[in-house]
Amino acid sequence: MTAANSSVARPGLSVVQEPVAARLQEVKQELRRIVEAELPLMAEVNAHLMQMQGKMFRPTLVLLANEATGGGDVPRVTTLAAVIELVHVATLVHDDAVDHSVLRRGMPTVNSLFSHQISVIMGDYLYSRSIIELVGLDDLEPLRVLSRVTNEMTVGEMRQLLAHDRLQFGEEQYDLLIRSKTASLIAGACEVGALRAPPAERAALGRFGMALGMAFQVVDDLLDYTEDATVTGKPSGLDLREHKVTLPLIAALPRMSEGERQMVTQLMQAPEPTEAQIGEVVAAVIRAGGIEYARTRALELAQEAEVELDVLRPSPAREALRASIAYVVGRRR
Ligand code: IPE
Ligand code: IPE
Ligand code: MG
Ligand code: MG
Repeated sequence: MTAANSSVARPGLSVVQEPVAARLQEVKQELRRIVEAELPLMAEVNAHLMQMQGKMFRPTLVLLANEATGGGDVPRVTTLAAVIELVHVATLVHDDAVDHSVLRRGMPTVNSLFSHQISVIMGDYLYSRSIIELVGLDDLEPLRVLSRVTNEMTVGEMRQLLAHDRLQFGEEQYDLLIRSKTASLIAGACEVGALRAPPAERAALGRFGMALGMAFQVVDDLLDYTEDATVTGKPSGLDLREHKVTLPLIAALPRMSEGERQMVTQLMQAPEPTEAQIGEVVAAVIRAGGIEYARTRALELAQEAEVELDVLRPSPAREALRASIAYVVGRRR
C-alpha cells in the first residue's frame, strides 16, 4: 500500500474536522464561557481542564451532522456542540476518579492533581452548567435528547461495575454496556446536530452515531491493550489493572489454554495486579486472537454506520462523516 493509499484508508482527525474547523474554534470559546466559575478552586480546576486538549470528536459530529442536513435552523449550534463536549468532559472527570486513573489527554487527571472529592464535585458542577446552558436555549428538543443520554451514560458506568472481575461477562452484555456508556452520547451528538432535519435524516444520523460510538469504544478498549500511554495520553493496561472485562478479553477467553485462563483468574483476584501479571495476560489475549476479534467487530460496526449516510445528500460534510468512520477504526489515540 502506498503512503497516499494508507492516508485514504486512515484519514486523520484534521480531514474529518476540515469542513467545520472555524466553528470548532468558536466551540472552544463557548466552552470557556460556559464553565466559568467564581470560586477560585473551581476556576483553578477549570483552567486545568481547559488546558487539556481532547480530540473534540463529539462537537465535530454535532457540526458535521448540522451541515450535512442543510445546517441553518438549529439554534446556536456551536453552543449545543460545546454543551455536548462539556457533558463528555464531566463524564471523564468522574470516570477517571472511578477508574483511579492518573493520566488523561497526556496530563494529570483532576483526581490525581486535586482530589477524589474535587472530581466528584467538579463533575457535578460541569454537568449542571451544561443543563443551565441547554435550558437557556429555550428549546425542549435538545434538552430531551441530552437528558436521556446523560441518564443512559450513568447507567452505562454502573454496568461497567458489573463487568468487573466477571469472567462470564459476555459479548451481549458488553454491547449493552458500550451502547449506554459511550455510544449514547455520540448518537446524541449526531442527532442534536440534525434536530431540524427531516425525521428520516435525523433518525438515520442517530443510528449512525450509535454504531460509530460502539466502534469508538471497541477501539478504545483494544488500544488499552495495544498502545502506549505516550501515544494515547492515558495509561495503557488500565482496564486489566482495574479488573475491567472488555471485548479483547471476552473474545480471547474461550480460546485460551487452561493455564492462561488461570492467569486471568489470578489477575482478577489480585487486589493490585503487578506489571508482570498484566503483561502476561495481555500477551495471552493477543495470542488467542482477542485483538483481531475486536478489530473485526469495529469494522463490522463501521459498516453499519456507513449505510446510514446514504439518506443524506452528497456534500463535503457528508464525506467528512464518512471519513470519521475510517478515522475511528484506524485511530491510535
Ligand atoms: C474517551 O473519549 C472516553 C471514551 C468514550 C473512550 P475520547 O477518546 O473522545 O477522549 P478525548 O475527548 O479525545 O480526550
Ligand atoms: C469510557 O470508558 C468512559 C466514558 C464513557 C465516560 P473508559 O473508562 O474506557 O474511557 P477511558 O479509557 O478512561 O477514556
Ligand atoms: Mg476510564
Ligand atoms: Mg478506555
